[in-house]
Amino acid sequence: MRTGYEAYDVVGIGFGPSNLSLAIALEEHWANASERPPAAAFFERQPAFGWHRSMLLPSTTMQVTFLKDLATFRNPMSRFSFIAYLHEMGRLARFANNQSFFPTRQEFHQYLEWAASGFTDRVRYGATVEEIRLPPGTGPETADHLWLRVRTAAGTDTVNARNVAISTGLVPRMPAGVDRDDRVWHSSEFLEKYGRTKPGDLARVAVVGAGQSAAEITRFLHENLPGAEVTSVVPSYGYSIADDTPFANQVFDPGAVDEYYFGSDRTREAFWNYHRNTNYSVVDDEVIRDLYQRSYEEELCGAARLRFLNLTRVEGVKRAGDRIHVSLSSLLDGNAGELEVDVLVFATGYDAMEPAGLLGDLDRFCARDEEGRYQVQRDYRLVTPGLSCGIYLQGGTEHSHGLTSSLLSNTAIRSGEIADSIIHRRAERELPSLNA
Ligand code: FDA
Ligand code: NAP
Repeated sequence: MRTGYEAYDVVGIGFGPSNLSLAIALEEHWANASERPPAAAFFERQPAFGWHRSMLLPSTTMQVTFLKDLATFRNPMSRFSFIAYLHEMGRLARFANNQSFFPTRQEFHQYLEWAASGFTDRVRYGATVEEIRLPPGTGPETADHLWLRVRTAAGTDTVNARNVAISTGLVPRMPAGVDRDDRVWHSSEFLEKYGRTKPGDLARVAVVGAGQSAAEITRFLHENLPGAEVTSVVPSYGYSIADDTPFANQVFDPGAVDEYYFGSDRTREAFWNYHRNTNYSVVDDEVIRDLYQRSYEEELCGAARLRFLNLTRVEGVKRAGDRIHVSLSSLLDGNAGELEVDVLVFATGYDAMEPAGLLGDLDRFCARDEEGRYQVQRDYRLVTPGLSCGIYLQGGTEHSHGLTSSLLSNTAIRSGEIADSIIHRRAERELPSLNA
């Protein structure tokens, strides 16, 4: 790894699936080209590769086909495909016998770890990028690289990069005024905190939300805490199904990005109005049916401990010792209510990636639209008038590029487009000196 002056062509901030896919795209581009390899490095704050580890619940499945892995849609011959992984593990035939497009999340995690292990020379784990700025003594037009401050257990380093690819992931969302603690959790930290809690402290638990995370956690708690009362606070009248039928699924096709990006405001609005239910506040059919069946069987036995508070939202939380008092508002009768539990899990979703904190003072060189959102080029590069270095986003571009902005569905294509852009711009920059 280079620290100090020598600049990388690109530094990736975060090493989740998006930047892992970028590392693969850069490597495969170079393998097919005569020019020098792009110098790339990636910094990941976790101590080892991990993809939403605290939500790796047993038996949960992927929400995209395994064909939408890190590389296949860009390069079906890639040695980093999910099929190549299965082949190397000696499991290809057994996987095929399952006749499913949707591996478990645990198996996909193993695939991602396997792919990440091919890049250990380019990734530093336990390394948090704290700031991106212009190098001291330079201006936006004169700076030919950006300066990144990276914190590790050993101290702070600086790294220079001509381009950065920010891919720091979704940001857990809690209701306003509610803080997390050892008994009030967000779904993103579920297994970690569950593992640290004594079973005796989990006699009455509640889960808030009606998305995939909420439904999976409700099922997990009901399954794993046989004596506990499990309450699900559902803002709708009941869980709604995630539409993954073929026509609707086309919103995740690579071609839909162009139609969204180059469409009018009305086009983009139509995408959201008609197809938000492919991803947000929705649940897979199988999980919905499983939960319904559990609740039905309990009713038959006259011993219901799984209950659903429908059309209900959480308004606030008060902690009194080990007890959590939850304030509820119900749309059924308009009344406020209260619930007392030992542990409360907010599966209340995520906000989009927000790079402003990392960009600090550089943020003023990034153009925004009339609604204050970043202007982003088709190649995912921020519009930065007067700044010659490139800042690319993987995530946080739903307003410009549509639903797949932070999803795996289009990761292979998206990171291929970013790799192409970085390499073509480098060639353009170097051309005058080659001709001189
Ligand atoms: P991701 O969040 O995975 O990675 C970002 C990385 O950046 C993290 O490892 C983080 O530690 C690191 N980081 C953050 N700040 C940093 C800093 N300052 N310095 C260094 N490192 C930093 N989508 C889909 O298409 N199909 C699916 O099946 C699923 N399943 C799914 C399950 C669950 C539980 C969730 C919450 C989400 C999904 N998703 C999904 C959507 C999800 O966004 C997607 O699967 C990927 O995680 C996106 O990958 P990224 O690399 O962009 O972000
Ligand atoms: P989500 O889909 O955004 O759902 C959040 C839920 O919380 C919504 O039902 C929302 O209701 C509700 N909510 C918010 N504030 C509330 C409040 N104060 N009281 C009651 N309810 C409240 O979030 P998610 O379920 O975490 O899913 C996020 C992403 O991760 C999706 O892309 C999903 O597909 C993915 N995911 C995938 C898997 C998997 O691959 N197996 C597992 C989990 C998650 P409103 O909409 O009414 O605000």
